[in-house]
Amino acid sequence: MKLRKVQTTPYVKILGIETSCDETAAAVVEDGCAILSSVVASQLTTHGKYGGVVPELASREHLRAIVPVVRQALEQAGTGLEALGAVAVTEGPGLVGSLLVGITYAKALCFAGNLPLIAVNHIEGHIHAVILEAGRGIELPAVALVASGGHTHLFEVHEGFRYRLLGKTRDDAAGEAYDKVAKLLGFGYPGGPIIDQLAPHGDPHAVKFTLAHMKGNALDFSFSGLKTAVLRWVEQHDLSREIEARRRAQGAPVKELLALTPQPTLDLLASFQYTVIQELLRRAAVSIEEIGARSFIIAGGVASNSGLRAAAREAGFSCPVYFPTPALSTDNAAMIAAAAFPKYHAHAFAGLDLKAKANLALA
Ligand code: KG4
Ligand code: ZN
Repeated sequence: MKLRKVQTTPYVKILGIETSCDETAAAVVEDGCAILSSVVASQLTTHGKYGGVVPELASREHLRAIVPVVRQALEQAGTGLEALGAVAVTEGPGLVGSLLVGITYAKALCFAGNLPLIAVNHIEGHIHAVILEAGRGIELPAVALVASGGHTHLFEVHEGFRYRLLGKTRDDAAGEAYDKVAKLLGFGYPGGPIIDQLAPHGDPHAVKFTLAHMKGNALDFSFSGLKTAVLRWVEQHDLSREIEARRRAQGAPVKELLALTPQPTLDLLASFQYTVIQELLRRAAVSIEEIGARSFIIAGGVASNSGLRAAAREAGFSCPVYFPTPALSTDNAAMIAAAAFPKYHAHAFAGLDLKAKANLALA
């Protein structure tokens, strides 16, 4: 079937759909910046007991949630398919089975509503979460740090949303390091928000982590050495009883987890978080100077970390720093609809043969 010739309109409503990992999300965004609705169905209770995302379970949960989540997003926005200008969907990177659920449903909606389909890169979505809130006044070129459970990338952002990769992690992503350290110490999944809340109770300078100097691109990250250093520290201290107690208490409020965490472990968490933040901001600072950036964007799940936010504000960068609100830092569909807005006006539409791309790169 051929889609109707698209007449683009300035006040377009775009339905965004995001299913790249463990959140089923749908949102309606008008004019690229007004969020009319944003619904996120989290699968935390499904994956929490495994200490990480189980791909097969994730696809099954997306299948269960996609129809009600999209319906709710349209209802909350007070709109129907006929009032939309386009449907935008995450095409990658992510878990292929999860991406497929969103893509297939987006195609079906486009077919039923005779609407254009827009394919969005998940990482570009994270960057747009910031642009969406800060308005289009962000001055370019910008440096964007995208740090989440799946990626840790530094990009140079130019007019027309053109990106150049400056550096990326060679092994674990920053969020993945948080999740693995949390799992090792008996905290639940995801580890980032828990460590974020416990770290202020410890001394960030108590444990000194020396990170290996890497050859090659000085803007690349590496977090697996830090994870191994935490593991060594744990092996050298007998933590088996406290870890077991926390495992039994998984899912409990942070106040309870805090009571089960002795001071040396709190110091370890604070030192781990301090090291991650230093690593992220040190390379961002070099990038900002190198390209003469006029803005610094921090996005992705780790951008909701309160220690990172405070350190970035106090770092004295030569340009303003922009973060999304915590709700837009982690995976959501408003960022996908927002990233689709310039593509809509550029008539950059996808065909109904769009495929899921698990390893899609942004630049
Ligand atoms: O962007 P996101 O929702 O999903 C991916 O694209 O991966 O990011 C999820 C990641 C998880 O690893 C989680 O532990 C981490 O972001 N995260 C945090 C915080 N909130 C979420 N890491 C540190 N501090 C936080 N407050
Ligand atoms: Zn993400």
